[in-house]
Amino acid sequence: MQEFKNKVALITGAAHGFGMAIAEEAAKRGMKLMLLDQDEASLKQVAERLGKEAEVKSLRVDVTEESQIDDAVDKTIELYGEINLLVNSAGVAVPGPIWELPVRDWEWILHADLMSQVYSLRKVLPIMMKQEDGGDIINVASLAGLVTSPLMPAYYATKFAVVGMTEATAYDLQLAKQDKIHLHVFCPAFVHTNLDHSEEYRPDKYAEPGDPYYQSEAFKIGQAAAQKDIATGMPLEDVKAEIFKCLEENKFYILTHKGANPLIVGRAKNVVDNVAPNLEVLASLPDVTHDPNASLFAEKKAD
Ligand SMILES: NC(=O)c1ccc[n+]([C@@H]2O[C@H](COP(=O)([O-])OP(=O)(O)OC[C@H]3O[C@@H](n4cnc5c(N)ncnc54)[C@H](O)[C@@H]3O)[C@@H](O)[C@H]2O)c1
Repeated sequence: MQEFKNKVALITGAAHGFGMAIAEEAAKRGMKLMLLDQDEASLKQVAERLGKEAEVKSLRVDVTEESQIDDAVDKTIELYGEINLLVNSAGVAVPGPIWELPVRDWEWILHADLMSQVYSLRKVLPIMMKQEDGGDIINVASLAGLVTSPLMPAYYATKFAVVGMTEATAYDLQLAKQDKIHLHVFCPAFVHTNLDHSEEYRPDKYAEPGDPYYQSEAFKIGQAAAQKDIATGMPLEDVKAEIFKCLEENKFYILTHKGANPLIVGRAKNVVDNVAPNLEVLASLPDVTHDPNASLFAEKKAD
């Protein structure tokens, strides 16, 4: 995607984090925006702020509900007539080992991080297929969709699923000769967003307040790890620039933490060499997901 002015962007999870950052950059480039989120108050603030420089509409949407996504897409088409960029950024994180994490949490993250993207792809892809200039789609996954580590099996499961779904859909679009639709899968390591506050976004239908898990050590350890990881993550500002560079250069994988590349290669090698996941091996690796010297941005700033 090289032309942004007057093009239409539909962005989920736009009240915070990556969704908000992408909306800011899209507004700066003269795009017309439809912003979706379930956090109505914050969404309104973002829409008002960006509305000073661009055409912006926002809708309160729970992305775990297919009918709400369908309605939002219909409203976007009624209003703007087309969708040139879809960004699937709404998502949450839930920690905890599989033998302790309530099934309700699995249902929540699978719907918020995976099914939400299935719903919007099912609705938006047929629209883009009919548009003369196709469109671009960014599915937000994570480095956790390419490599694994302890504490969050549900999170890894959804992120591997998003990467696999996006890769497989890219083949299907080629078979369908839809070469003007460009897919991108965004796989960052830790970035300083609001992700460590996911609990605040839990829809009532996935709440189980009396479940002893939420008083457990496993839950507290997981929450503390998420808070540390997110608070020490990369600044959103730098990530935003890289996302748009990858859009302009039509890069399928948006990899913002270059220092993590050896982990991706290492995992693929472990698979073919049949090396089982091992905590000691993991602990011996450099912490490239935090070390600023291993990041793409440190290199850029050192130039
Ligand atoms: N921050 C990181 O370090 C990091 C790294 C890799 C991947 N990710 C992924 O990026 C995506 C966005 O997360 P973020 O880091 O920007 O977090 P964030 O919490 O700052 O933003 C997520 C947004 O999604 C919205 N949301 C959550 N559930 C929703 C629902 N059911 N319906 C509508 N909106 C909903 C929230 O209100 C929030 O505005 C997530 O999928 C996350 O897993 C984040």
